[in-house]
Amino acid sequence: MDAMTFVLFGATGDLAKRKIFPALYRLYIDGKTPERFSIVGSGRREMNDAAFRQQVEQSLTAYSRRPADDRSKVDAFLELFRYCAADASVGTDYRKLLELVEKREGEQNIPQNRLFYLSVAPDFFDVIALHIAESGLGKGSGWKRLIIEKPFGHDLKSARRLNEKLSQAFEEDEVYRIDHYLGKPMVQNLEALEYANPVIQALWNNHYIANVQITASEIVGVEERAGYYDTSGAIRDMFQNHMLQLLMMIAMHLPHMTERDVRAGKRRIVESIRCVSPEEAGSSVVRGQYVAGEVQGKAVPGYTDEPGVAPSSQTDTFVAARLWLDDPFWEGVPFYIRTGKRLKEKSTRIVLEFKNPRGAMHLCGTEQCDPNLMIIEISPNVGVVLRLNSKNLLQEGKLEPIMVDFCANGKDIPEAYEILLSDALQGDATFFAHWNEVEQSWKWVQPVLEAFERNLVPLYSYPAGSNGPEAAGRLLEQDGFTWW
Ligand code: BG6
Repeated sequence: MDAMTFVLFGATGDLAKRKIFPALYRLYIDGKTPERFSIVGSGRREMNDAAFRQQVEQSLTAYSRRPADDRSKVDAFLELFRYCAADASVGTDYRKLLELVEKREGEQNIPQNRLFYLSVAPDFFDVIALHIAESGLGKGSGWKRLIIEKPFGHDLKSARRLNEKLSQAFEEDEVYRIDHYLGKPMVQNLEALEYANPVIQALWNNHYIANVQITASEIVGVEERAGYYDTSGAIRDMFQNHMLQLLMMIAMHLPHMTERDVRAGKRRIVESIRCVSPEEAGSSVVRGQYVAGEVQGKAVPGYTDEPGVAPSSQTDTFVAARLWLDDPFWEGVPFYIRTGKRLKEKSTRIVLEFKNPRGAMHLCGTEQCDPNLMIIEISPNVGVVLRLNSKNLLQEGKLEPIMVDFCANGKDIPEAYEILLSDALQGDATFFAHWNEVEQSWKWVQPVLEAFERNLVPLYSYPAGSNGPEAAGRLLEQDGFTWW
């Protein structure tokens, strides 16, 4: 791997503490960081290197998957870190940063390969990217990469504006847009499930699949993020990015997993999603907002009673939708997506429901056979379950569903951030969101946002701790299905 400098903006922030430092540490002890590696953190707060390293160490103690108890390894890791106090909106501060980066490059004989990670509020993305270019930080003799996190824009227009500004400083292939769902090991396993299993591959199309259901349900409410969440809602926070990325990953047909193939495969799928007009949105989109209820035995307030949320807020904390793909493999197969906060359980999963077997009805008596299901548990459970029908040999041969399952719970599975950071260090953008995907996702979401604004889609309330609004169930009942 190339020797490089990792420049972290927002180094004193929450994401750095919770995710980035622990992921870097794990990669470091697993030998997945470059041999010559420099990490320069930058934040507004004045601090010396020792205080910064202390913060890093605290974050390892609190959040690392592997206990940071090997003193010599921890010390060697911390030695990689330097800190530079800088105001990211002030151009002259970048000179200090450049001096420190160059000094470390000189000391460690590192070529000018620089990876910039913007762990800052999205308002700063374009400002920082332009300053990186202007200050000379981004004009070294080596390569440069930029990692940013969602949100990529607030709507289609602002996403395009942001992308235009970023592209003045970085080429598309230098931009690594993190969608942490793409780093979840089970998401990266989807194509293998299909292509390493001829049994499944043969069935992975509209001849055999009746519908696909993608669910990301959360127990938590808005937490302390009302300022951000109340202007986003579930549609921007989860749907436009994570949910549509899951749809692309499950629907693409790809025997090869090269970066170029994956990006082309996902692009083809996202471009095939049939857009709805604001007027049509009401028949395929359901939105909801939680009211007071009980979650796992604990009484919790409703959304509008959460600290920082306006009592009159109309923000969606739940969205469900039916989408159609204009793609020969998926013609006639509805994709149902739902995501929400304060639901009954924490679970992200994809369910493929297979069509009922013709000719098997006589085995089930008068009733319909239960459909076969393939249930892919993404998180926090990790596993695959295939639900088949079989005669219960102890009960007069009554046909019953049986589960064939694989479960990886409790195994030492890497965190999404470890996987994605490791890829970015190596310059592999396969599991990052390309601008085409982001833009195309906004194209589907934009008319729905308009429909929400014009109140063309009713805002249903649902009690915290439930499965969301009943209207989400009706969305499937119309087609003869139910949520799994
Ligand atoms: C984030 C959202 O992107 O994903 C949060 O901003 C959400 O609102 C989180 O809670 C869910 O991630 P995970 O990995 O816990 O499913």
